[in-house]
Amino acid sequence: MGRVLIVSNRLPVSVSATPDGSLSFSRSVGGLATGMASLDSSDQLWIGWPGLPSDHVDADQQRQIEQRLAEEHCRPVWLSRTQVEDYYDGFSNKTIWPLFHYFPLYCIYEPHLWRAYQEVNERFARVVCEMAQPDDTIWVHDYQLMLLPRLLREHLPDAAVGFFLHIPFPSYELLRLLPWRRDLLDGMLGADLVGFHEYDYVRHFLSSAHRITGHEHVLGTLSVANRPVRVDAFPMGIDYDAFARAAARPQIQENIQTLRRRFGTGRTIVSIDRLDYTKGILHRLEAFDWLLSCRPEYRGTVSLVLVAVPSRTNVPRYQELRTRIEHLVGRINGAYGTLRWTPIHYLYRSLPFEELVALYRIADVALITPLRDGMNLVAKEYVASQEETGGHGVLILSEMAGAASELSEAIIVNPHDKHQVVEALHRALEMPAAERRHRNEQMQQRLRRYTVRRWAADFVESLAEVKARQAQLALRRITPELRDQVVEAYRGATRRLILLDYDGTLVHFFPRPEQARPDAGLQEMLRALASDRRNTVVVISGRDRETLQSWLGELPIHLVAEHGNWTRRRDGDWQCIENHGHDWKGTLRPILERYVDRTPGAFIEEKDFSLVWHCRRSEPDLAHLRIQELRAAILPLTENLNLGVFEGSKILEVKSIAAHKGSATEAWLHEEPWDFVLAAGDDYTDEDMFAALGDNAMSIKVGRGASHARFSVDTVEAMRDLLERLTRA
Ligand code: UDP
Ligand code: G6P
Repeated sequence: MGRVLIVSNRLPVSVSATPDGSLSFSRSVGGLATGMASLDSSDQLWIGWPGLPSDHVDADQQRQIEQRLAEEHCRPVWLSRTQVEDYYDGFSNKTIWPLFHYFPLYCIYEPHLWRAYQEVNERFARVVCEMAQPDDTIWVHDYQLMLLPRLLREHLPDAAVGFFLHIPFPSYELLRLLPWRRDLLDGMLGADLVGFHEYDYVRHFLSSAHRITGHEHVLGTLSVANRPVRVDAFPMGIDYDAFARAAARPQIQENIQTLRRRFGTGRTIVSIDRLDYTKGILHRLEAFDWLLSCRPEYRGTVSLVLVAVPSRTNVPRYQELRTRIEHLVGRINGAYGTLRWTPIHYLYRSLPFEELVALYRIADVALITPLRDGMNLVAKEYVASQEETGGHGVLILSEMAGAASELSEAIIVNPHDKHQVVEALHRALEMPAAERRHRNEQMQQRLRRYTVRRWAADFVESLAEVKARQAQLALRRITPELRDQVVEAYRGATRRLILLDYDGTLVHFFPRPEQARPDAGLQEMLRALASDRRNTVVVISGRDRETLQSWLGELPIHLVAEHGNWTRRRDGDWQCIENHGHDWKGTLRPILERYVDRTPGAFIEEKDFSLVWHCRRSEPDLAHLRIQELRAAILPLTENLNLGVFEGSKILEVKSIAAHKGSATEAWLHEEPWDFVLAAGDDYTDEDMFAALGDNAMSIKVGRGASHARFSVDTVEAMRDLLERLTRA
């Protein structure tokens, strides 16, 4: 097992240069840095931006910083002042951050910011490639580095690369606003495992990937250039014991006593976040204002401690927000404050751990009401901190925070519903002790189990599983050596049977089935293959006989149509294997038609023994839904009719099950004592063919996924290349 290389924009330590020119190092705030920093750093290296532009320090200071960071297993990526402005303040925090948090009106779409974002991602890629060793696992974090996984894949094709997004992934309707949406998705899909905090984000990502890049998933796994990429939810945890057992530390005890003395018998509501418009701080202040206005009994006895941690202070939206918050705090304090009581204690700074935990522990209520938040670790930290207090504190949490799905015993509110937030505050302040304790215990149990360590281990293990699966698929894949062996076996044989599926094996899929005509190269290749008299070449397809006849009828090959229902021997006539009644079509066609009418882009293809409902050109989610509905609607009608209902690539096919590619294959196998059998296919119907073949046959699946075939190739091109080689052998 190699090291884990953590790559994120922000390192766990941030460096700043004081006005007198000296350097100061501080613990970074923000969930990514605090969460990841609590992991064991001995076998990891953390690569990231040290927090200040390279132009602000001289060469000597850079060395000093590098040395100090090396002690913490960190390696800085230096960025110039312009890069920081355009990539960090700019594209990361003026475009992606607001868009992904559902603030589209705050977004700017500037090509020069996008270019800086690309450039810095490339810069990160260079540093990671310099540092990476073959066994390392590379774990890229967050929205500032969404292009990085793909860049790494280009340079290190076999590396284990994971990507985790710490913020929400928005719905397609938001993502589509971004001119560079496709690049971001392609960037992320360079990873082997893409993780999110919540299943909703997974769902949004999969849907966008499908609509924008065309990649479809099967149970959360997509195939990107034939590389399985897994997408899953991993809700980030916290270092539970650090918060639950904090009171043992004398410094924290002392801080708790100081705060108790300060607030006396009064009660406290705490609000802690980075000063960010996504956190809903203004809404929260308005709710507190309203509480004091409509419930005067709380005046003089309940105070709000508002900690706003400075964040992204060069971005105008953050500067404006600060002004508005300070204005509102001033107004509320002015309106309700007395000489003995201040309604809001406002701190604009970051608290060290010892003060933060003390505050969590004394607070009767935590009011955490973001308008949108990927996870929100503060909520989890607050609940953990209640463990040794007799469990008294009440958490009020926004339903828009990722953490709400795990902390359902909190009082869950819609932050836009001021009335509901005021009611929640009242309820929290009046909640009986037993209920408070009970709610906290339920949440604590969960947080204790799924800690940040478990979360990280879970992610890294899942990544290793994806790599193992990729390796397994690669084993079956036809290598150049194996390909040469096939050619050798072919050369030595005199009775050769070659069974070839058509769509997806010899030609690609097209939006309309009639577009998949054989090109001249394919015709020539089939002709060359079939003109060797030692060869029996059969195209065995689900297509109707008219199509096969008009496309391939001139070639000296055998044709099997409708999955084995029709056969036309080279130079012969079409023979029907079984002649079943066609009455069922009259019953089912109107149902299929009804689903065509309700699904733009859908159409019906009719063959002698089947009806096929196509939806390749329809909106993917709707198509998926309609296929399930249609299947449910027709299944009960097919039961006694010897019919099967099969879902293929963007189709639902109802067909007679009297004959299939397996029975057709068996018939061909019995014709002669073949000494070389090759069969290729890509679809579920070809599995019948593969299953009918013995272990000596060269059965080849085109594409990936479970199959009865012994071997696989990735693409139609690779399949055709192999056949070309046979014609030259
Ligand atoms: N935090 C801190 N000092 C403070 C306030 C917050 O260290 O004064 C930490 C807090 O413990 C938490 C993180 O900053 O781990 C904030 O993470 P969260 O997920 O709540 O929000 P984010 O800032 O990532 O949006
Ligand atoms: C959020 C983001 C992190 C970021 C943190 C602090 O948690 O998901 O990527 O590090 O905020 O923001 P900053 O811009 O100071 O790094």
